[in-house]
Amino acid sequence: MDHPRYPRPLGLAPLAYGGDYNPEQWPEEVWAEDVRLMGEAGVTMVSVGIFSWALLEPERGVYEFGWLDRLLDLLHAHGIRADLATPTVVPPAWFYRDHPEALPVTREGHRYSFGSRGAICHSSPAYQQAAAAITEQLARRYGSHPAVALWHVHNEYGVPVSDCYCEESAAHFRRWLAERHGTLEELNSAWGTAFWGQRYTCWDDVQPPRLTPTAGNPAQQLDHARFTNDAILANFKRERDLLHRLAPGIPVTTNFMTALSQCQSLDYWAWGREVDLVANDHYLVAEDPRSQINLAMAADLTRSVAGGRPWLLLEHSTGAVNWQPRNLAKRPGELARNSLAHVARGSEGAMFFQWRASRYGAEKFHSAMLPHAGTASRIWREVVALGAELGKLAEIRDSLVRSDAALLWDWESWWAQRLEWRPSVDLDARERADAWYAATWDAHLTVDFAHPEAELGRYPLVVAPALYLTTEAAGRNLHQYVAGGGTLVVSCFSGIVDEHDTVHPGPHPGALRDVLGLTVEEFAPLPAGRGVTLEAVGGGPVLAAEGGSALPGGDGSVLPGGDGSVLHADAWTEFVVPDGAEVLYRYADGPAAGQPAVTRHALGAGHAYYVSARLDAAGLARIVELAAADAGLTLPRLPRDLEVVERAAADGRRYLFAVNHADSDAVLPLTAPGTELLTGAAVSGSVTVPAGGTRVVRY
Ligand code: GLA
Repeated sequence: MDHPRYPRPLGLAPLAYGGDYNPEQWPEEVWAEDVRLMGEAGVTMVSVGIFSWALLEPERGVYEFGWLDRLLDLLHAHGIRADLATPTVVPPAWFYRDHPEALPVTREGHRYSFGSRGAICHSSPAYQQAAAAITEQLARRYGSHPAVALWHVHNEYGVPVSDCYCEESAAHFRRWLAERHGTLEELNSAWGTAFWGQRYTCWDDVQPPRLTPTAGNPAQQLDHARFTNDAILANFKRERDLLHRLAPGIPVTTNFMTALSQCQSLDYWAWGREVDLVANDHYLVAEDPRSQINLAMAADLTRSVAGGRPWLLLEHSTGAVNWQPRNLAKRPGELARNSLAHVARGSEGAMFFQWRASRYGAEKFHSAMLPHAGTASRIWREVVALGAELGKLAEIRDSLVRSDAALLWDWESWWAQRLEWRPSVDLDARERADAWYAATWDAHLTVDFAHPEAELGRYPLVVAPALYLTTEAAGRNLHQYVAGGGTLVVSCFSGIVDEHDTVHPGPHPGALRDVLGLTVEEFAPLPAGRGVTLEAVGGGPVLAAEGGSALPGGDGSVLPGGDGSVLHADAWTEFVVPDGAEVLYRYADGPAAGQPAVTRHALGAGHAYYVSARLDAAGLARIVELAAADAGLTLPRLPRDLEVVERAAADGRRYLFAVNHADSDAVLPLTAPGTELLTGAAVSGSVTVPAGGTRVVRY
């Protein structure tokens, strides 16, 4: 395993621990107590100045840096590093007084107003200039301040608003299109404007996909999604380049939201290449009883957009958030479990929103490290305990997560699939990505995410949960991967269209026909609430280890895949015609009764599975089990809710993280003796992970 370099927050030796710190909401007397308590909690870094533009520049060109000078000096005096933000997510009221046109416009033509945050038209030259000006001031003033460890550009680009449909954005969109397509003829061809008489003869007639009477041009909408990502990324790069030039040596980041439920408009594959250090924010979906799976997925996706390198969790919560319909408190111990699960999956620390709970404003009911209840609270005690635990884990820095398999993910394909007028509203790309990820999590596989055109040779197993848009290059890549000995699993409604949302020539799935050894003659979505049964052909596919199942059963739990002779699906089926692929399962009922449902194609040295239905969790577990066996992966027999991930250091040391999400103790067998870092105990043979607890074994 290679150990690519990545920049740490400057001068930060331990793991990062702390949170967003908004001292401007408090009288300065409180700051002294803050830094004292930060010391008690083991805080090593705080994010400051994220929303401070109006305080730092109260009128255009008038700067008041005194309070930030005092704050950074105070942090430095207490050995706390600063992740210093450019405050460009909230331009001040005076800016909009002069530039109301910089407020974004919705697809319906409504303009947002000032009074919240993130109301930015990213194509606005006035915004770009003002953002550059305040960034330049900060870079010049604090570029050599000893507290500053990291630049935090903006905040969560892409949320709460990403797209803008104003005239300025429309002109910008046309320039972007001219660059992408060259000529209007090319644009007409890419957008398929022969359909519904949409042909353009003049660039000025081309508009963003504003409100239309019925379905708009899908290629136009897809290009607009790409344009929006690029326009926002250009603004990040402008600030980053200024910071690099004026304050060299300090790494630059911005906080992503890779959880697919939290930001939908950015292509983080592109963003991951532009930041010095990948950072992420993650918030649990509180009512999800197994929210640890969504957390793990976001962490794996973050690590993957970081190219496998360490990354940093810049925000999560100590307890309830305030913006979900029902903001459930975290259970005792959950705060530490969440933090350590992120660390297990590559984060170099755990940061929170926020340090001290706000008394006013929209987020006063959001949890914090220091809650309204003060230090006489469970949350504070857990925060202090976590600080001590992270202090014991500093040596894991720079170690890399070891993965078993890859899941393919492409934001562009997701953007395309979710446009209107698809064969069924019930087949959702994100739902399938979540479901297949959960199947790998349950099988105790550690997965990376990969772009479908990425080099895949190092993965024995690759799963494509939702690849509606598949370029020819991706199709060739997957063919080469399988022919070279890989095991590929492709889920339904993949390989259908090219980058312009145009159906590949010939029968579906055009880009994947050859690798899968089949064609799809017709889609056969199911009525709402209707399910189908799939039955194994000829007694069913047999695993090498079979007689039982290779799936985890160490805790005596019932295998999610049952015996695998019958599988269940809903929402989606297809009429599949094999052309070289063998049939593993057939539809027992439903519109495609008697027809192939799950196939396996032997190609070169590898195998390609196709799953033509929306399988339930047990069905997915069975397919993962079969494919893993083909890929030569042994699925560990572990309790279902014991999350086990390994990080490996360049010197050969390994760190085995075991996070127990169950209410009873779990036993983790060890392959070598080692030291448990949180307790300091020597361990061999096995380690007991207490109910709700975490163990980290170095060996
Ligand atoms: C986001 C933002 C923070 C805060 C939290 C609340 O992550 O970056 O400023 O609003 O959400 O959960």
